[in-house]
Amino acid sequence: MAENRNHPGFDVSGESLLLPGIELYALDHTSPEPEVLNALSRETHLRTTSPQMLSGHLQGTLLRMISLMCKPKLALEIGTFTGYSAICLASGISQGGTLHTIECNPEPGEIASKYFRKAGLETVIHQHIGDAFDILQELNGPFGLVFIDANKDDYIRYFEMVFPKVETGGIILADNTLWYGRVLTPQAATDRETKGIVAFNEYIRNHSGVESLLLPVRDGLTIIRKLKS
Ligand SMILES: C[S@@+](CC[C@H](N)C(=O)[O-])C[C@H]1O[C@@H](n2cnc3c(N)ncnc32)[C@H](O)[C@@H]1O
Repeated sequence: MAENRNHPGFDVSGESLLLPGIELYALDHTSPEPEVLNALSRETHLRTTSPQMLSGHLQGTLLRMISLMCKPKLALEIGTFTGYSAICLASGISQGGTLHTIECNPEPGEIASKYFRKAGLETVIHQHIGDAFDILQELNGPFGLVFIDANKDDYIRYFEMVFPKVETGGIILADNTLWYGRVLTPQAATDRETKGIVAFNEYIRNHSGVESLLLPVRDGLTIIRKLKS
């Protein structure tokens, strides 16, 4: 999720471009947050300085639903943070399958491993602590589902490293693709995150090997389906 929060949209734990009333209504008409995720969210707010980075209940439920529909044998997440989205994604992994999740910061990684155990997912989720660019070189696919949610100015590089390892028909999800709405006025943006997200969105739009859907949920979630290598 988003690293900065300078606008009034919100949900329980983070950012949204939806009207607050709409977000609350949507949350109220979504199945309740599992206790383990609720506890993880509370601990993340108490123990980290950027709790808004966690996916939160609305987006987490969407990730879980997508994973349940894809039923991947092998999945990958870039940007674990405290593990909220990893737990959601892991819920849909096929029997005997694995979710690899990568985080460069060991501190939130500790919280994540505690909650992977609490969720009974410690044998499903394989946690990697280190730089995604190093770890991705060692991971082989084929991945059926990938979630990109780390540095916003590196999205094209993550995508290009991962794409050859995604199976045909596989799904790549990219978070924060509306970046607080700043994508609408990129000429006014001088920050590298906005530039990175705008470049990524253009790159995906022009990529002949995928079809994509940018969903205006929360801070924007793009669903990308691989058609061919
Ligand atoms: C937005 S947070 C992830 C939130 C998490 N996916 C969730 O929804 O709960 C992004 C995380 O990516 C990590 N990160 C950024 N660049 C990275 C890199 N090159 N390799 C590994 N982790 C990285 C950051 O330390 C941060 O914890």
